[in-house]
Amino acid sequence: AYVVTENCIQCKYTDCVDVCPVDCFVEGPNFLAINPDECIDCTLCVAECPAEAIFSEDDVPDDQQEFIALNARLAEIWPTITARKAPMPDADANNGTTGKRDLLVE
Ligand code: SF4
Ligand code: F3S
Repeated sequence: AYVVTENCIQCKYTDCVDVCPVDCFVEGPNFLAINPDECIDCTLCVAECPAEAIFSEDDVPDDQQEFIALNARLAEIWPTITARKAPMPDADANNGTTGKRDLLVE
C-alpha cells in the first residue's frame, strides 16, 4: 500500500483524493491517511501531492516508518474523503517544515 507521511500535516492539499480510483483516503483535522486494505498501489496519488508526502510502504524514509502503522490505525477511525477541497490556510508556509509530527491532531 501507499502511505501518507509527515509533510501532509498542516498542509492537507487533498489533490491526492481526486485521482484515487478506489477512494481509500480518510480525513482528519490536519492530515490525510490511506487505508492500506483498500489501496491498489496504482501510484497515481504520488505525483499529485504538492508536499511530496506519499510513498510506497517499501520506500517510506527511515525516520517516518511509524506512519505505516499510523495510516492503518487512522483509516479505522477517520471518515473517507472523496472530493478535493481547499488546503489548510497556511499550507504553503508549512510545506517542507520539520517537526510537524507533534502537530498531528487525531
Ligand atoms: Fe489511491 Fe492509488 Fe494512491 Fe493507493 S496508490 S492511495 S489506490 S491513488
Ligand atoms: Fe496530504 Fe499531499 Fe494529499 S499534502 S492531503 S497527501 S495531496
